[in-house]
Amino acid sequence: MSEKEHKVSRRQFLSYCLMGVGGFMAAAAVTPMARFALDPALEAGGESDYVSVASVDDLTEEPKRFDFKVTVEDAWYESEQSRTAWIYREGNEIIALSPVCTHLGCTVNWDANEDHPNQFYCPCHHGRFEKSGKNIANTPPTRPLDVYDMEVRDGTVYLGRTIQR
Ligand code: FES
Repeated sequence: MSEKEHKVSRRQFLSYCLMGVGGFMAAAAVTPMARFALDPALEAGGESDYVSVASVDDLTEEPKRFDFKVTVEDAWYESEQSRTAWIYREGNEIIALSPVCTHLGCTVNWDANEDHPNQFYCPCHHGRFEKSGKNIANTPPTRPLDVYDMEVRDGTVYLGRTIQR
C-alpha cells in the first residue's frame, strides 16, 4: 500500500467526525431508555430485612442504646452501615426507637440533660422527646421519633426499617 493510500481526505475526515458526533448523540438518547428499562432492578436495593440486635433478657424499662450493622444495597453496590436503636420494655411490649431527631437529624440520647431527666434529649437545638418518643411541645421537633419495625424470635429482638409516626 502506498503512502498516498493511507492519507485521509478532508471529506473522509469530516464524515468520521460526523459519525463520532452521531454515535455520541445516539448513546445520549439510548442511555435514559436503558435506565428506564433497568429501573426495577435498580430499585430492588435497600436495606436487607431484619437484623438481630438484642436479647430480650437484656432489656429493661429504661431505654438502652444498641448499635448494630445493616447491609445496604444501592443498585449493584452493597455496603455495611451502622445503626442505633433505643430499646426498652413496657410490660409485655418492646419498643425500639430511632435516635435520629425529627427536627434536623441530630442524634438524641436518653436522660442526657439533667434539667429534663427521663427524656430523650437532642443537644443540637435542645429538642426533647418523652420516653415513648413523642415530641415535647415548645421544643423544635414537630413529630415523634421514628420506631423500628420489629420481630421477636426465640428471645431475640430483630429490627427492620424505621417507620415514621
Ligand atoms: S436537630 Fe434535634 S433539635 Fe434540632
